[in-house]
Amino acid sequence: MTHPKLDIRSVAKRYGEAIALSPTSLQVGAGEFLTLLGPSGSGKTTLLMMIAGLTETSGGEILLDGQEITRKPAYRREIGVVFQNYALFPHLSVFENVAFPLRMRKRSESELKSAVGRALELVRLGHLAGRLPRELSGGQQQRVAFARAIVFDPQLVLMDEPLGALDKKLRDELKLEIRKLHAELKKTIVYVTHDQDEAMLLSDRVCLMNEARVEQIDTPAALYERPRTRFAAGFVGESNLIDGIVAGGRIRIGDQLLATAHGDRLPAEGKPVTVLIRPERLRFAGTSDVAQLQGKVVDVIDLGAVRRLSIAGDLAAGLTMTVLGGGRPVEVGSDVALTIAPEDVVPLTQCVP
Ligand SMILES: Nc1ncnc2c1ncn2[C@@H]1O[C@H](COP(=O)(O)OP(=O)(O)O)[C@@H](O)[C@H]1O
Ligand SMILES: [Mg+2]
Repeated sequence: MTHPKLDIRSVAKRYGEAIALSPTSLQVGAGEFLTLLGPSGSGKTTLLMMIAGLTETSGGEILLDGQEITRKPAYRREIGVVFQNYALFPHLSVFENVAFPLRMRKRSESELKSAVGRALELVRLGHLAGRLPRELSGGQQQRVAFARAIVFDPQLVLMDEPLGALDKKLRDELKLEIRKLHAELKKTIVYVTHDQDEAMLLSDRVCLMNEARVEQIDTPAALYERPRTRFAAGFVGESNLIDGIVAGGRIRIGDQLLATAHGDRLPAEGKPVTVLIRPERLRFAGTSDVAQLQGKVVDVIDLGAVRRLSIAGDLAAGLTMTVLGGGRPVEVGSDVALTIAPEDVVPLTQCVP
């Protein structure tokens, strides 16, 4: 990234002895949708609030469009912010809520009218401009908050769990709407969530956070296919994690040898290694498959679209396998032979004890 829109350089936050964010560096490209994903308390909001200028940094620098803004007051940063709890002005109409950033910036009345009109159309609320926030549903209130965050054509839009207060159906709807908004506006967005599905659906890249620091930054696909750590493998998607030893470019687990297509990720011969196998990548072996693992089905959970099997067998830990639902039921207690393609055996590269 030669000219990042947002450049975060070793930004940190301490509260007394407590570390809310370890020194963190991160670049966000122009037009990119980047999500800070992580469990509660991992430092996502802290980082977002420092970018917004609503929390002071304890160290490091923040550059927006190449300009240092680390100590610039929030209202002078060209940044729109959306919070979980809408934070609309209760006594102002929808129109005036959205107009607020423009009034702050002393825009002309005619400019204001057209910009607010456009922003409200974009979130499909043009017909409700005269209402008060309490006369709107939660989803509509949050759409007003989106309109207010983009109406002044900011350089950057920040969103902190904007769907967190909504029920699942609305969340799913608004998720798709945010995706569309981003596609239409091409704004640079930094989005915070603890919901992996939201992150995977929306993001160009995901910055996975854990214990006040960045765990991994990658595209959603790369994060899922090639997580580096146990935490990353477990937080995004379901995982089988199996400990073994490197033996001749393969992984020895008990008396089994697993082949991997990711030999470049293996540590040296004889070293311990943990491999990830996603449950949906396990397959029932055909008679011609060479690599076979014998096992016994010990539990079956039918989830409709998919069926989740627990399989005890050769691989010490026991395996979770998901297969498509429907068809012939799988009997608990039946013997099965499984196979795994070498591409689907992914060594973790950072095994923190
Ligand atoms: N004002 C504050 N004073 C003291 N500790 C704080 C303050 N704000 C946040 N923290 C701490 O910083 C850590 C990160 O918090 P936060 O950024 O809100 O996490 P997240 O948004 O990922 O849930 C947490 O341990 C939290 O308790
Ligand atoms: Mg938070």
